[in-house]
This record gives sequence, C-alpha cells and structure tokens, in this order.
Amino acid sequence: MCGIVGYIGEESAQDILLNGLKKLEYRGYDSAGIALLDDEELNVVKEKGRIAALEAATNQDVTATLGIGHTRWATHGAPSKENAHPHQSHTARFTLVHNGVIENYEQLRNEHLANVELKSETDTEVIVQLVEEWVHSGKTVEAAFRHTLSLLHGSYAIALIDKENDDAIYVGKHKSPLLVGTGDGFNVVASDALAMLQVTDQFVELMDGEIVIVSREGYAIETLDGDTVERGPYTAEIDASDIEKGTYPHYMLKEIDEQPAVIRQLLMQYQDEDGRIKLDDDIRKAIRSSDRLYIIACGTSYHAGLVGKQLLENIAEVPTEVHIASEFSYNMPLLSDKPLFIFISQSGETADSRSVLVNVKEKGHSTLTMTNVPGSTLSREADHTLLLHAGPEIAVASTKAYTAQIAVLSILAVDAAKAQGIELDFDPMKELGIVANAMQSLVDQKDVIEQMARDYLSVTRNAFFIGRSVDYYVCLEAALKLKEISYIQAEGFAGGELKHGTIALIEEGTPVIAIATQSHVNGSIRSNVQEVAARGANTCIVSMEGENDLDDNIVLPEVHEHLTPLVSVVPMQLLAYFAALHRDCDVDKPRNLAKSVTVE
Ligand code: G6P
Repeated sequence: MCGIVGYIGEESAQDILLNGLKKLEYRGYDSAGIALLDDEELNVVKEKGRIAALEAATNQDVTATLGIGHTRWATHGAPSKENAHPHQSHTARFTLVHNGVIENYEQLRNEHLANVELKSETDTEVIVQLVEEWVHSGKTVEAAFRHTLSLLHGSYAIALIDKENDDAIYVGKHKSPLLVGTGDGFNVVASDALAMLQVTDQFVELMDGEIVIVSREGYAIETLDGDTVERGPYTAEIDASDIEKGTYPHYMLKEIDEQPAVIRQLLMQYQDEDGRIKLDDDIRKAIRSSDRLYIIACGTSYHAGLVGKQLLENIAEVPTEVHIASEFSYNMPLLSDKPLFIFISQSGETADSRSVLVNVKEKGHSTLTMTNVPGSTLSREADHTLLLHAGPEIAVASTKAYTAQIAVLSILAVDAAKAQGIELDFDPMKELGIVANAMQSLVDQKDVIEQMARDYLSVTRNAFFIGRSVDYYVCLEAALKLKEISYIQAEGFAGGELKHGTIALIEEGTPVIAIATQSHVNGSIRSNVQEVAARGANTCIVSMEGENDLDDNIVLPEVHEHLTPLVSVVPMQLLAYFAALHRDCDVDKPRNLAKSVTVE
C-alpha cells in the first residue's frame, strides 16, 4: 500500500527518492510523486500510474539535497494527479506525504478550514492545511505539526517539509509503519527499510504517537506530549541482493522457485544440532497454557491458517479456530477461557490483523505473531514472534510466504504434540526435507504447467478449483492466486458443495481443476470430477503418487499426507503465473491490489 521515502543530506535527493519509490512499488500503488527543496525553491512532480511515468516527468537538473516522495494507493478520491501526494498547503509553504486514513478529516475540514479551498479529494490535504493554519495563528512549525497530529483520528505515517527550513523533515507516526534511517551527514525516512537499503542499513524504529525532526546531522524523537525519547538505530539484516530480480522476468517466478530453499532454511532455523525442534520456551509455555488457539489472518495468510488448523488439530490435538481478521474485529465469537491468539502475516503490517491484536491485547489475552518481517508492527506488539525466514517477498501475490507459514505451523504442531507426549509415527523434519525435494521437482516442470495454463485457462472467463479436506484449503489459495494476477474469475470449492449450487455454473469447457492428494476422500473427489465432466467441464486432476490414476494430469511426488499442501500449491502458483503471463497481465503488480495493506 502507500509508501513514503524522504532524504536529507549532501547528495542529490531526486535519484535516491526515485530509487526508493521503485523499491516500494511492490506494495501496490496507483500514483506517485516527489517534492524537492532547494534554497527555498520547491519542485513538486506527481503522476498517475507507474514510477516510470513520474521519472519521465522529473527535471534531471534539480540538484536539491532534501526531498520527500510517495506512492499512493487510493482510498479517499480516485487515483489521479490531483489526488497524488505530495500535497501542499494553500501558500505552498508546507508540503506533505501521508500513509493511512484520517477518519475525522471532514470534521476537521469543517471546523478549521472553512475558508481554505482544497485542491484534492483526499483526507491527507487536510493535514497539511491544518499545519499552515496553526503556523498562521502564531505557533512554531514544530508546535503546529504536533498540534495537528494530536487532532487526527485514524492512522498515519507522515513526512512534512517546510519551504523556509531546508534542514528538517518533520515526521510523525500512528498505526502506519515508518522508520528513520541514519547515515554519515545524511538521514532518511522510509515506510519500509527496503526502500533505503541503497544508502543505509541503520534504522530507528518509531512508536505510535511519536514525532521526529530529522536533519542532516541527526534526528530528535519526542512523544506528542513533548517528552524526549532516546532510541538508537538497529541494523536491518536484509541482503540488498534479495530484493533484486536477478535474471528472473518476475519476482513471483523467483519467489516460487525459492520455496525449496526456504523450507531448507526453516529446517536449519527451527532445529538444534541434535535434530530436535528449536523453539522459544516462552512460546511453548504460551501454547501449553492455552486451551484454544485462535488464528487471525487475511488473504493468503488466512488460507495458510486453515491448513494450520488441520495440522494443529490432527497432529497435536490442540483445538484451533481460524478467523478472517476484518470479520473477527466486528463479530467476535465467544472465546475460550485461556485463548492464545496467533496472527499470521507475511508483512506484519496488515491493519485488519493489527486491529484485532490491539483489541485482544487490551483484553489481556496472550498473542503470538508469525511473520516474515522481523521488527514489523505485529511482531513488535505481540508477546511472541515466530519468523518465517522466507526472505523479502516482493510480488504482490504471496507464494513463498504461504509455504513458509504452513511449514512453521507444522513445526509448531509437531512440537505441541511432543510436549503432550503424543507419539508421532513420522519424523517431521525428515518429512519437510522430502517436501523440499518434491517442491524442487515441481518447479523444474514449468513447461508442463505452462502447457496446462494454455490448455485450460487461455480463453476462459472463469475457473473452479475443487478439493476435499485439506485439499479444499489449497483450492481456496489456488483460486485466489489465479484471480489476483490473471483476473480470471476463479473460486475454490469443497467438492461436496458443488451439487448444492456451483454445479449450475458448469458449462461446456468450464475449467475445473481438482486437487486429490488425500486417500480418505480420493474416491469422493474423483466422483465430483465425473459429475462436472458429465456436464461439459474441462477437467484436470492434480493427484499424488500412490493416490493417482494413470491419466491424471499432474502427479505430485509423494510426501507425508499432513504436508501435501506444501507441494500441491506449487503447480497452482505456477498455473496462475503462466495464465497471467499469457494474458499480458502485470504479474508482480496486479491492478488494484497492494502487498502490504495498511488501512482497515
Ligand atoms: C494483501 C496481499 C496478500 C496477502 C494479504 C495479507 O491482500 O496482497 O498477498 O495475503 O494482504 O497480508 P499479510 O502481510 O498480513 O500476510
């Protein structure tokens, strides 16, 4: 979702800001802009569409050493040049970029800005106009900034510059992520460390309700109440090469290919020298002392949670519920006496999940975040964190984070089973190693899956995925992948539900892809395939060695039945990838979607 960058130093800011914005492209956006300040001369450029359009519109002769930049994912007001950030106050003295949503912007506008003509439809413009108002009324810029932030309801990460001061970026944060990066003679601001790794790996975390004045020589953090905060930088342990595509045409393909390595990495991270599961004792205690797990997540992470429930209940006999975060917030079920909340979030920033976290923490419940991003908001705010170790995931459509989530959930389930003295008839770590090999053999079969995409998805307007038991959960994920990036209307169904409605949609040639890896439902899912085939569907069966028939379309290498989602999802990811590619879709940056959804 929206991204912020800022630079104040000795170098020309424009290239650094544009490079930073390019690194944030993966989060999803529909317009972008930068503001550069040079000797009281302000240069603001904004464009609808991609960063490339913005770059083409910039003036290469501007050598300003202070600037802010933004990618906008429209919430209030359509994606347009007028609504793109930065926004300016009516005298153009103040210029600001903002992520988040200001819930009371209309009220603030009516109460304080009745005489100001606003140029955009955004909630953001109100903030910058308010700063100007308070400065006119006699406040210092810092006091005006502080007062403005204290009036805002909602979420924000803000960077503001003042035309009359070329040694300051005013920064504020509440609920939306923002970091200050430090360097020698320069400092930066970024909503994601990835954006500024080009110049520094030293970042300072900011907490909600803090403001920071960033200058060339340093940064000063204060709370909104004016208390000084001392906080030094940490080293962001991200390898800059991890966020490059290398020779891959798309990040998504690279990330699909990385999955076997991610599973092997997890085996190293979660195993001690004697082959025992390595897990924080506090996490073990939190699980042991809870009577029910509540998994909270969105999108792909929710789908991983569904598989996790199956693992935790089947392997460890731990009662587990899975909830969509945005629903749970407003429709909370009756809770057990000792719940443990597990937040699954690749980014660790998803606003819907965070809203549940804040809510259940207030009620005193125990919380654990499973995330790919150390230091992310959900990780900082939960009692415990389990890391996914998948490396940065850049493509909007999540792939390696999903499989990492399931792998970590399986490790958690096995550990919980052992803690209760449940005898397992398999060696989980060895089985995960087998999974990594199976994934490798699947990613090596791209030509087969590309052909499958041509056969089944080249002309269709819809597609259905059917499965039973845990295969059904993978079907939900398969359908999400396909619709996200190829815009084919795709749905995942439980095989048994077909005849209760969906079968009415089957026409001559409708693609129906069945996943059949589970022996206890193999017969019934194959009957469902027959039912739709009899009505003209173009059927395809993805099965597993040992469960397969001779004419199945894809036969997955055999893995333990608890772990099949880790391998059955791989051809589904590739299928979506090739379907999108054949339709000339922007695979890594699908329309309207954001990688990191920081508004509710
Ligand atoms: C967005 C992304 C999805 C992701 C979901 C949850 O919608 O496009 O790929 O699954 O957010 O994100 P999280 O970071 O919490 O896993």
